Amino acid sequence: MWTRRHFLTGTAALAALPLPFSVAAASGAIALEARERSLSLLPGTTTPIWSYRDEWPLVVRTPRGAPFRAQLTNAVAEHTTIHWHGIRLPNAMDGVPYMTQPPVGHGESFAYEFMPPDAGTFFFHPHCNTVEQLGRGLAGVLVVEDEAEKDLFLADHVVAIKDWRLKPDGSFDVFSTDKGAARAGTFGSVETVNAKPHAQLDALVNGWVRLRVLNLDVSRIVVLALDGAEGFVIATDGNPLPPVPLKAWKLGPAMRADIAFRMPRQAVRLQNVWGSKPELLAEIALIESALPGIGPVPTLAPSQVPEPDLKSAERLTFDLTAGHVSPALEAYLKDNPNVTLDQLCLPQRTFWAINGRSWSGQDHKLKPPPLAELKRGRSYVFELFNGTPHPHPIHLHGHTFRVLRYSKEEIVPHLADTVLIAPKERVEIAFTADNPGEWMMHCHIIEHQETGMMGYVTVA
Ligand code: C2O
Ligand code: CU
Repeated sequence: MWTRRHFLTGTAALAALPLPFSVAAASGAIALEARERSLSLLPGTTTPIWSYRDEWPLVVRTPRGAPFRAQLTNAVAEHTTIHWHGIRLPNAMDGVPYMTQPPVGHGESFAYEFMPPDAGTFFFHPHCNTVEQLGRGLAGVLVVEDEAEKDLFLADHVVAIKDWRLKPDGSFDVFSTDKGAARAGTFGSVETVNAKPHAQLDALVNGWVRLRVLNLDVSRIVVLALDGAEGFVIATDGNPLPPVPLKAWKLGPAMRADIAFRMPRQAVRLQNVWGSKPELLAEIALIESALPGIGPVPTLAPSQVPEPDLKSAERLTFDLTAGHVSPALEAYLKDNPNVTLDQLCLPQRTFWAINGRSWSGQDHKLKPPPLAELKRGRSYVFELFNGTPHPHPIHLHGHTFRVLRYSKEEIVPHLADTVLIAPKERVEIAFTADNPGEWMMHCHIIEHQETGMMGYVTVA
């Protein structure tokens, strides 16, 4: 059988098809300096983005199960933290200001240290004033590698989707609007993939290709489809699953899908088929090769996530609803689209709730009681019901859950850290509460999170 190694020893000239922009965490350590840098996103302009390093998207690779250390230095004007989205790590490393660590002020530094237990496609981002900090570009991709997967793919590409709210001169526009926050979110004006209108990638003919697709946007939902090759979903939110033929796979904000396909003798396009006409996300050009046609979809190393015990699991329900905006105020805002809540001097923008409770704010200084207190070691089924007219991608920190079923749609059960729930949809997820601490649970349409659809559970 042909493997990457066989192939590479034969043709040294084509030896490297690395991830673009990728930084290996040398001896497990990497320096991340949050500060302003400039990036050209609109032709003829530059944008003062915020980033952790010079490259955008930043891709950090580190081995599974080995110590990983990231030294964050804060050179932006406000406090920040880093949340390692989807990584099952100790609570003190989870990066939620006030809750798991003090916020990292301007000029301060914080060392994140943990051993990522699962291989896969993850990412990291701030957890304070996130709509703005992530909106400005503070995010990075974390690829956790498993030794056993090294030779499986001849091309391994990151496809990072993120939109930007820019004015025509390239400067940032306001990041949040009441109109967006109270509905489906405020959308970017410039759509990008790997900071370009679409990603341009390549792969050797007949080789297996892995696309690590990440939705890093704060609002946008995409539906993935492949044109020109038969694709398979091989991992969801970083977690392997038996290959599922890719037809239309939905990714809400924060969600990831790894897609595999064998490179044909023609270009392949990854598209977003959410709207009425397909949008190009990535074009994969062919590189001629003498590779023979090779075997079935490569199998990823099995997941290390403990399976919940469904028989003994306790069932808890969480209703996602609108928050406490009075119908009269709603009507007033509708009739007066130029009036913002700030102008009305309302204390907090609160549009959303979980189980009738809203926790809003741009950081987490004032803490309400938990949504639920879980017993360590016990299995839980969370039943999440969306009683609003908008979809919500709900993320739970510190645990990876199994998505069991949707009430209105046939799904393939899979592991995830974020689950997209359509209006009037009821979704069941299950997991073992094996990680002690206080863990956030919130919508990853960041404006929904910051205007009330946020809470936490405790595990003790
Ligand atoms: Cu990726 Cu609490 O978030
Ligand atoms: Cu939401």
